[in-house]
Amino acid sequence: PLAVRIKDLLSKMTLAEKIGQMTQIERENATADAISKYFIGSVLSGGGSVPSPQASAEDWVKMVNEMQKGALSTRLGIPMIYGIDAVHGHNNVYKATIFPHNVGLGATWDPMLVQRIGEATALEVRATGIPYVFAPCIAVCRDPRWGRCYESYSEDPKAVQSMTTLISGLQGEAPSGFAGRPYVGGSKKVAACAKHYVGDGGTFMGINENNTIIDKRGLMTIHMPAYYNSIIRGVSTVMVSYSSWNGQKMHANHFLITDFLKNKLKFRGFVISDWQGIDRITTPPKLNYSYSIEAGVGAGIDMIMVPFAYTEFIDDLTSQVKNNIIPMSRIDDAVYRILRVKFTMGLFENPYADPSLAGELGKQEHRELAREAVRKSLVLLKNGKSASTPLLPLPKKAGKILVAGSHADNLGNQCGGWTITWQGVTGNDKTAGTTILSAIKSTVDPSTEVVFSENPDSSAVDSGKYDYAIVVVGEPPYAETFGDNLNLTIPAPGPSVIQTVCKSVKCVVVLISGRPLVVEPYIGAIDAFVAAWLPGTEGQGVADVLFGDYGFTGKLARTWFKSVDQLPMNVGDKKYDPLFPFGFGLTTEAKK
Ligand code: IFM
Repeated sequence: PLAVRIKDLLSKMTLAEKIGQMTQIERENATADAISKYFIGSVLSGGGSVPSPQASAEDWVKMVNEMQKGALSTRLGIPMIYGIDAVHGHNNVYKATIFPHNVGLGATWDPMLVQRIGEATALEVRATGIPYVFAPCIAVCRDPRWGRCYESYSEDPKAVQSMTTLISGLQGEAPSGFAGRPYVGGSKKVAACAKHYVGDGGTFMGINENNTIIDKRGLMTIHMPAYYNSIIRGVSTVMVSYSSWNGQKMHANHFLITDFLKNKLKFRGFVISDWQGIDRITTPPKLNYSYSIEAGVGAGIDMIMVPFAYTEFIDDLTSQVKNNIIPMSRIDDAVYRILRVKFTMGLFENPYADPSLAGELGKQEHRELAREAVRKSLVLLKNGKSASTPLLPLPKKAGKILVAGSHADNLGNQCGGWTITWQGVTGNDKTAGTTILSAIKSTVDPSTEVVFSENPDSSAVDSGKYDYAIVVVGEPPYAETFGDNLNLTIPAPGPSVIQTVCKSVKCVVVLISGRPLVVEPYIGAIDAFVAAWLPGTEGQGVADVLFGDYGFTGKLARTWFKSVDQLPMNVGDKKYDPLFPFGFGLTTEAKK
């Protein structure tokens, strides 16, 4: 039985081997020699570091296997586990399928679709030799000013709970009776990570990594429920949040990590810190590293993501255990949990990546799935100046149409942050896919002339004699703190493009954004308005619905505010006076 295997191995391990298991280092430092010298338990590619975006699946497999060789060359030959974010598909490789970000998936209200996305993501990630992803983010984003709002499915706890199906897609469906124990169903599945525990989406004014001020009941009813579902689904790991709860850093919260998550909820996978999360227990970081290590490991964190510098961490933790500051039982608990995940997922039997999965990366079937997800994520918020004059679906056959805006022909903008690099990319050459403009061109009747202008001036619009215009504007890519934004205005020149075009031509505005933005000043001038969120590489999904091959079905999983002084505003609030309420979304019929 598993427990015997784990205990047996654990009993043979030295302190150095145990602490090595608890250490996760960045790929840049992860030579086979370093891994074997320090018995490193895990390696990760942070958002920005990849062999190269153009690297093939085979290049990745080679790199990961080389590192694995280092781990297997140690006395006990315990395999390391390689992890990557993969928050909307495999977000570090040119060829990969990039699915809509969670904010868009939330608007589909389709947990089974999300499960299928998990399955596809697992295959694409495994294709590059990686068995572990730091997804899903199950934050309940209560304030769209937060730079990670787009990583959240919804402002509503139940909606977020329902999307934990991603875990079953990534890991496989845990057999009945497995509840609470980590489950990964073989070498085409990956270990998942529910993050960021807990209350990450509830920080003051949406400030990233800030303080979540809420009573225990609020924490338990808003931010905690999705963790119950994740555990029931057998999630392998949970990542701790940089944020604080009522002033206490989550990375040092013994009550929530050990007493509640491990003991009360019976989570039996491992708890991983965020990147240098232990270092950041103090402000400024590493003010007193020994204290931070004691607080973080003591709170119940099992694997430490990129402690800085890791050899210093290893030395310090070693001496704290030798001096009985941190008990050996705490170390054994951590290593037991890490080994349990590694055994459960078959890493001991199959430590090396399988190069035969290379064809899974960016394959057509996955692109079709992403396209379907895009279609279902679109929310139609206005259709015509009056209900009797709908603009959508658009006619495919027209004389001349105008496509405008910074996001019409820009795959990077369409994908958002966590695409190829941490902060995302711009332009069309960094990732494979279809822009909205090229999708429009291939959808309209061949006789329809499509004119594209990113930022047209009024004279060009006036003299153009367009039948209608499609304006695609929105936010540039961003990730984490870089996305914190107190104004939430549509970035320039978006507003002027909307005003210039919609003044003269019947227009639909397609907004590409990680959250609701301020649109009230323009909404009267716009004929039709579509929230397309961050759709990813398959822009064809947008054209499918705009032109009526499919109907609009998406509904808001976030409240659309009128002005930022209303924030935070969530469904159920006392003074609820949104521009578009939670759950809103117009529908259209697919054209026969
Ligand atoms: O998984 C992420 C996390 O969401 C934010 N900090 C860095 C981690 C690894 O890239």
